[in-house]
Amino acid sequence: MQFEVITAFICLAWLAKATPVPLEERASSSLNSIAVAAGKKFFGTATNQDQFNDASYVDVMLAQFGSLTPANVQKWQYTEPSQGSYDYSQGDSFASYAAENGKILCCDNLVWYQQYPSWIDSQSWTAESLSEVMTNHITSEVSHYKGKCYSWNVVNEAFNDDGTWRENVFYNTIGEDYIAQSFAAAAAADPNAILYYNDYNIESPGAKATAVENLISSLKSQGIKIDAVGLESHFIVGETPSLSQQQQQMQAYANLGVDVFVTELDVRFSSLPPTEQGLQQQSEDYQASVGACAALGSKCPAISVWDFDDTYSWIPSTFSGQGDADLYWANLTAKPALAGIESVLVA
Ligand SMILES: *[C@@H]1O[C@H](CO)[C@@H](O)[C@H](O)[C@H]1NC(C)=O
Repeated sequence: MQFEVITAFICLAWLAKATPVPLEERASSSLNSIAVAAGKKFFGTATNQDQFNDASYVDVMLAQFGSLTPANVQKWQYTEPSQGSYDYSQGDSFASYAAENGKILCCDNLVWYQQYPSWIDSQSWTAESLSEVMTNHITSEVSHYKGKCYSWNVVNEAFNDDGTWRENVFYNTIGEDYIAQSFAAAAAADPNAILYYNDYNIESPGAKATAVENLISSLKSQGIKIDAVGLESHFIVGETPSLSQQQQQMQAYANLGVDVFVTELDVRFSSLPPTEQGLQQQSEDYQASVGACAALGSKCPAISVWDFDDTYSWIPSTFSGQGDADLYWANLTAKPALAGIESVLVA
């Protein structure tokens, strides 16, 4: 009798250990819910729908993150593959997936010097004809997703690191007014979406951050609606701007009357494999961004990572020999950085 009771207890204890925590319980202490409890709108991730058949990945994504940003399928090359002929099939399926799973949809992006359709480069344009093509694209896409997008990344990466304008077909043909035209077209098509300018290396004071501040001031003085700036925040372990540098720069943007979003956070190792000490540094670097956003209060509504699992990180294919940038290892176990940022949000 006693033996049976003990055996039953051991079995129960083993079962409790072996049974995975139900998704709802994990969600109740998820990164997103911790961020929401800290006053943020969400903690999100970028993703691709070809990853949605990876069940273990999806389990973590749905349990931990409150918003989804499509990494590719809303980009111009997908949505207007030939001039005037629109294809929203992949973007629609991404948007439906987000809605069905109760996730906020962050829409990305409208005008960028990459991932635009090849028919643009195979023709010659006047400022007027390219403006028309650009605003038609924005009007069509933003109208198509009207009411579904929490935010739109309207113009992506318009500056060089030294703060000069990046030469691209839009700037070279239309001039700097392509930015104002883009924001105006987006605002007209969906007045309720949060419209933001997005870039990297603008997270701490410097020439590029100053250029973005000047752009925001210029758009505001022209009466153009710009709601926020997106700080991509692709950092390198040990070279990440400090908490106080990031706080200072976020405050400078907020002082211009825009909100600040951390939109694509990841912190990569420039050489692999990482050491234990390196993993602690990575955690501190993640904490600097999350801590600066936490300190800015309601003016920094949300944070997103550019995917959360090293299996799907964009880093190794872009920066050869670098990587391990995400919050989770490829086997979906969390790195120290996950607990690190949770502790910042709880504090
Ligand atoms: C997951 O991968 C990391 C990095 O390779 C390793 O350190 C860790 O032990 C692995 N965890 C599990 C549970 O396999």
